[in-house]
Amino acid sequence: MTTPLISARDVNVRFRITRPGDMPWTAPRHLHAVNGVSFDLMPGQTLGIVGESGCGKSTLARALIQMAPAEGQVIWQGSDDLLALSPSRMKRYRSEIQMIFQDPLASLNPRMTLGQIIAEPLRTHRPDLGRDEVKTRVRDMMDRVGLLPQMINRYPHEFSGGQCQRIGIARALIVEPKLLICDEPVSALDVSIQAQVIELLQELQSDLGLAMIFIAHDLSVVKHISDEVMVLYLGRMMEKAPSELLYADPQHPYTQALMSAVPVPDPVIEREKTIIPLHGDLPSPMAPPSGCVFRTRCPRAEAACAEEVPQPGRGRHQCACLFPGRLTAEEVA
Ligand SMILES: Nc1ncnc2c1ncn2[C@@H]1O[C@H](COP(=O)(O)OP(=O)(O)O)[C@@H](O)[C@H]1O
Ligand code: SF4
Ligand SMILES: [Mg+2]
Repeated sequence: MTTPLISARDVNVRFRITRPGDMPWTAPRHLHAVNGVSFDLMPGQTLGIVGESGCGKSTLARALIQMAPAEGQVIWQGSDDLLALSPSRMKRYRSEIQMIFQDPLASLNPRMTLGQIIAEPLRTHRPDLGRDEVKTRVRDMMDRVGLLPQMINRYPHEFSGGQCQRIGIARALIVEPKLLICDEPVSALDVSIQAQVIELLQELQSDLGLAMIFIAHDLSVVKHISDEVMVLYLGRMMEKAPSELLYADPQHPYTQALMSAVPVPDPVIEREKTIIPLHGDLPSPMAPPSGCVFRTRCPRAEAACAEEVPQPGRGRHQCACLFPGRLTAEEVA
C-alpha cells in the first residue's frame, strides 16, 4: 500500500483570546479554530477543503507547517511528525511544502523584480546552485507558468492579478516541493482568469507529480481539481469523500446546502433548482453550539443533535451527522 504523503490526525488549533482590560487573573478564553480534523493525502493527489469564511481552512493549512499553534499529529511520508519537530528541523521541510495565497500581490516583495522574486527561494534552499543554473531554472519556470522572458526585470505592480498569481506559483514550485498548499488562490481573481489559473495548476501537478491541498469557499471551484473533498464548518469536519462521491451523493445537510448554492450553467435547471437556505448567522466560534455545531442552522436538527457530537466515522465517505442522507422536499421548504 502507498504511504500517504501527509497524514493529519486529530489536529486541533486553539487561539488564546485576550481582551483589553483583561487582568492576569482573568480566566483565559480560547477560540477553537480547528477541532479534531484528520485526513490522509496521497502523493500526487489533491485534497479540496471547502467551507464558509472563518470555518478554519487557513488555520488548518497553516497548522500543518507549524504556522499556527496546533496539537495532534501531522505525519510526513510515514515518518516525522511535523508538529513535533524543532524549528531548525522544520526548516528542512519548508522547501518540500510550499504555499500560495489569496492575494498574490500582497505576498510579493514590491522592491524585487520578477526574476529576483522567483529566484529567492532557490537561493535560500539551494545555495549549492551557481548563478547560471539559478537563471536557467528561473527562465524555465517562467515559461512553465506562462510568463514571457521579457517580463523578468519588471516589478510586481506592473502585473495583473492573474499574472501575480502565476509569479506566486512559479516562486512556490521552483524549489520542487512535494506538496503545494493553495489557500484560496483564485478567490481574488476574475472568473475567466480563475479557470486559467486552475488549469495551469492542474497541468503543473500532472507534469511534476505534486500533491495539492486546494482551499476554496465555494464547492464549484474545487470540483474538478480535487480527488477528495473535505467540508469544514466551525472548525470541524462535516463530510469528506472522493470528489465524485461527494458531488453525486452528498450526505451531510451542510454539504447539501453549500451544493445547492452553486450556480448551474443550464438556465432551465438553474431556475428550477431548490436552494437550501442556511437559516440564521454563523454562530460565534468562541461559543459554538453544543452537540453538532451545525444544529442551529440545520433543517433536520433534532433534540439528540444538541446532546451528541456526531463523529465522521471511517472509510471512503465520512459524514459527521447523526441523521445523514438526502434532505427531503419538506425539510428544505
Ligand atoms: N491568530 C489568530 N488569533 C485568534 N483567532 C484567529 C487567528 N487566526 C484565525 N483566527 C480565528 O480562527 C477562525 C478560523 O479562521 P480562518 O482559519 O482564517 O478561517 P477561513 O480561512 O476558513 O476563513 C476564525 O474565527 C478566525 O477569526
Ligand atoms: S447531527 Fe443533527 S444537526 Fe447535525 S447535521 Fe446531522 S441532523 Fe443536522
Ligand atoms: Mg482563509
